[in-house]
Amino acid sequence: SIPVQNVQDLASRNLNVIPDRYLRPELDVDDVFLDESLQIPIVDMSKLVDNHVAELMKLDYACKEWGFFQLIGHEVSEEVLGKMKSDVMEFFGLPLKEKQTYAQPPNSIEGYGQAFVVSDDQKLDWGDMLFLVSQPNFTRNMTLWPTSPPSFRDSLDKYSIELQKVTSCLLGSMAKNLGIDPKRLLNMFENGTQGIRMNYYPPCVQADKVMGLTPHSDASGLTLLLQVNEVQGLQIRKYEKWIPIKSIAGAFTSIEHRAVVNVEKERMSIAAFHGPNMKTEIGPISDLVKDKIPIYKTMSQDAFIRFAVGRRLDGKSLLGHMKL
Ligand code: SIN
Ligand code: FE2
Repeated sequence: SIPVQNVQDLASRNLNVIPDRYLRPELDVDDVFLDESLQIPIVDMSKLVDNHVAELMKLDYACKEWGFFQLIGHEVSEEVLGKMKSDVMEFFGLPLKEKQTYAQPPNSIEGYGQAFVVSDDQKLDWGDMLFLVSQPNFTRNMTLWPTSPPSFRDSLDKYSIELQKVTSCLLGSMAKNLGIDPKRLLNMFENGTQGIRMNYYPPCVQADKVMGLTPHSDASGLTLLLQVNEVQGLQIRKYEKWIPIKSIAGAFTSIEHRAVVNVEKERMSIAAFHGPNMKTEIGPISDLVKDKIPIYKTMSQDAFIRFAVGRRLDGKSLLGHMKL
């Protein structure tokens, strides 16, 4: 991707006018869904572990109707979460020069910078990110893992391991819901990929005219999203509107989503993407298709990821591009 200006640095200059490349005149506040009574699915993982039928049904409904749910009862300790959050906050608080020690190498999306910039005329997002591949272990590029704050690497390592456990549990329950042997899904995700993207969205005087993160759907099998500070900004696309998510502790899968920014406050989030092993073939599971004609292609996870990361974000479901 093409290197562009650091947004945190730009925002720190207290500009009254935001550069044109960030402005999106088409943004319309009327596209945001404001009915507070709308129930967004909440799944309790401690009940899934106990094979609680009603909870499994809730998960099934959330996956089929929403592609998104908030996750509670997940057993990732407050200590692991707290350390991860405070280390990420501390990292983004470092002077620009120091953060740039971990800058994305040419043609890589790993490291500190901005991703998905593929042309000189494309609109830019109001945010910076630090993206690191965290699993499998041997694929880690340690030169891009911050050593400041000193506990950063350890915090990320622990967080990575805990989230893999959560992922396995959720996949097992999803397999049960689909009526397939959980081992089939779990085997695909054994030595699976995990990438962790830490997002920093500075405040913006024209918050309603910029986008923190362009609408997109994720390329991962399962994304677990953690809100770092109290500032909300995630919105998911449903009923032809943008629904703001008040996070309790979130997770989302294939639904289209975006991130908006705040006028006064910075916002941070951590997205952990989980995918199957790079060597796995992904596509419709034969036991589910049975005698029907599959709608989606089968391809290697490796080829799929190369396709997904080389494009600009376009809001459409990635699955739409995978149709036969
Ligand atoms: C993401 O889509 O990865 C992040 C969204 C957010 O910051 O809430
Ligand atoms: Fe995303």
